[in-house]
Order: sequence, then structure tokens, then C-alpha cells
Amino acid sequence: MGRPGGLAIVLLVARQLAVIYGAPLKTTFEGCRRGSLSGVDYDCCPSEYRGPILDFELKYNASAPVRIRRAMDCLDEDEASEYGEKLRKGISLMKALPADDPRSFAQQARLHCAYATGSFVTGSEGFDIHFSWFFHPWHRWFLYFHERILQTLLGDPTFTIYFWHWDHDGEAIIGRNKCSKSGMYFPAIYADPDSPLFHAARSLRPEFPALPVDLGLTGAESMDVPYRPKDLLLARNVAVMHDVMVIKSNTSRIFLGRDFRAGDKRVSPLEGAGSLEVTGHASIHWWVGGDLRTPPTAGKDPVFYAHHGNIDRLWKLWPLGGQGRANPTDPDFLDAEFLFYDETKNVVRVKVRDAMDTRALGYVYEFEERNEAWWNYQSTWNSWLKPVTHGPDTTTERSQGDPTS
Ligand code: C2O
Repeated sequence: MGRPGGLAIVLLVARQLAVIYGAPLKTTFEGCRRGSLSGVDYDCCPSEYRGPILDFELKYNASAPVRIRRAMDCLDEDEASEYGEKLRKGISLMKALPADDPRSFAQQARLHCAYATGSFVTGSEGFDIHFSWFFHPWHRWFLYFHERILQTLLGDPTFTIYFWHWDHDGEAIIGRNKCSKSGMYFPAIYADPDSPLFHAARSLRPEFPALPVDLGLTGAESMDVPYRPKDLLLARNVAVMHDVMVIKSNTSRIFLGRDFRAGDKRVSPLEGAGSLEVTGHASIHWWVGGDLRTPPTAGKDPVFYAHHGNIDRLWKLWPLGGQGRANPTDPDFLDAEFLFYDETKNVVRVKVRDAMDTRALGYVYEFEERNEAWWNYQSTWNSWLKPVTHGPDTTTERSQGDPTS
């Protein structure tokens, strides 16, 4: 390589300056470097890409019926077996793609890793799509492309990923969607060791079908054996959800996390994260454990996508709490750009703004109304039932050196 020419230097300086003054984050895959998280190094950069970068365009056909991402726990037996069959087929096709195919299951996990370890750089800074207001939109896009790749591999444009409804207390749903099963257990289709949906690197918890998840689990507790009794967990989970979604969520700063602009410095894991990202979201990562425990490896576990479906849905539910709850309108949020590989192996540039309406992306969720038990939860018990502390002050988790998103 020769020395960069004068024009290149001028452009480089101009870019650095633009970055210093704060602007919407723009992602480039160029100059991807080895990343790190909590002092551990990772090499997750996508292979070099020489094709054009396409600007995202909705390929959604407005006359096609909107697809519904359904709650896995609320399927009847036939629906569940039909879905399980399709998903297993799609994921095995994804896993069978050549390792360097950007649509392969392994490459998708690597892309999540690269975005989680500061491997991509703006100006001189690496950034992390966790722990800021980008957490929700970035993961919406990630699932969007995952779903499109599955549709393409299956040759079925109607295929829709379903979600793990772990906030759902089966007893108390009201409204038009009734489902009396509880979603608070590890979804069975991911637990069969002979299935491509199984992942060996997990804790023992998912192996106990009668053990409810612990939505208030902290990083510090996550290496312990389960000790909270089932009935306490089920009740406490509802309290935790109420706390995260209704009580500690009245501003977008609290719910989505800190703002993040081009050139901002990466923060320590969990610092700056929104309330749902820390409690509920991270708790499920910790509860399942193993590779799901930490962002650089989390995408290797197929249950990641079912878990994040629920996060995406909860983000949609959040404004229903009213009292001014609304997503930021700051252009540094809406015009931030990320790159993803699409189902044709092209790199697509997306903006946060285009992720704000899932209907425009072609899907909605089942249970998008205010009908989960946690909306109206009223604590009648004493404070021992109250959820553990969560939110921006997460010193305990941080000192673990093994944060999760
Ligand atoms: Cu990118 Cu649940 O994490």
C-alpha cells in the first residue's frame, strides 16, 4: 500500500472533525478491528466486502397481509408442531451454509459479536450497540434480517419468527387474546438435544421444564443454583415486569438508555443501559447462561432470537404506559445508520427511523395490547417480594466482568 494522498488526508481529518462534534452514528465495516468486552479480546469482523452498499428499501408489499409474530406458549398442538418443524428446517439450512456465507448462522452470531465488542469504529472510537438508546432499534433490525434470511432459505415469504413470551403469567390475561398457559418456562422446542435449536453451552436451568425463569436474576446471582421456590418466582416475575415496564420507565432515557452519538466513548457494560435491557433482558441471558450469558457469544444460541422477539415486543408495548412515554425524536437517534447483510448477501444500510414502525416492516406481535397481568400489578405483599434493584446503577454486575446483553 502506498502513502495516502493529500485528498485522503483532508477527507480523513474532515471525518474526524465531524465525529468530534456529535452527529448520528454511521457504521462502516471498513477498518473493522479486533474487539473486546470486559477485558476479553474477540475477533468477529465480517469478511471483507467489495460489493455495493444498498440503502434500505421496504420490500414489504402493502397488500400482503401483515405477518404476526406469535407467542410460542400460546400455540395449540398442531400450530406448535408445524412451527417447530419449519424453524428447525430453517435453522439447519442456515447452519449448513458455508462458513463464510454472511447469512450463515455462525456469521450472524459473529456480526452481533462485532457490534458488541467495539470492532466497528467511528472516528477513532469503537462502539457497542448495547447500553444505549440503540439497543432496541439495532436488535429489531438484527431480527428483521434473520427472519428474511429464514424466509429465503425456506422459500416461504410468509415465514415468521415466534417469540418466547417470558413475561406472560398464564393465569391473568385479559382482553381479546386469551392464553392461559404460562410463558415463563424455557420453550420446549429449544430443549431437545437432537434438534438444531438446541445449544449445548447453557446452564442447567433450561433442563428443568418445571423451573420458571427468574426475571429479577442479577449477574451476581447467575452462577448460583436456583433457590427461589416456583410460586415465589412466578409472583415475583410479575412484580419485576411491572417495575421495569410501568414504574421505572417514564422517560426514554430510563427505558431505552443513554443517548449515543458519533464519536461518543464506549461505556462500561451495563452503564447507560435502559431499564428493560438490564432487568428482564439481561436476566434471561444470565438465567439461560453459557454462551447466551455474554454478548460476544450470545448469538450462537438459537434461543437468542426467540428471547429478543419478546424484547422487541416489549419495546412496542412501552409507550402504552402513557404519560408522555415516547421514543426519542432526536435526529442523532433517528438518522443513525447501521449495516447488515440481507438475504441476498448484500450489505444494506439501515436507519433507526425505518425501524420505528414494525407494521411497515411487515409484522406485528401477538399480545401487543395492555393485556399482560403485570400492567395492573398491585403489590399486596411486603417489600420482600419487591424486585431486586436494577437500572443504571449496576455496579455489582459490572464488577463481575461478565455482563450480558
Ligand atoms: Cu445484543 Cu440480548 O443482546
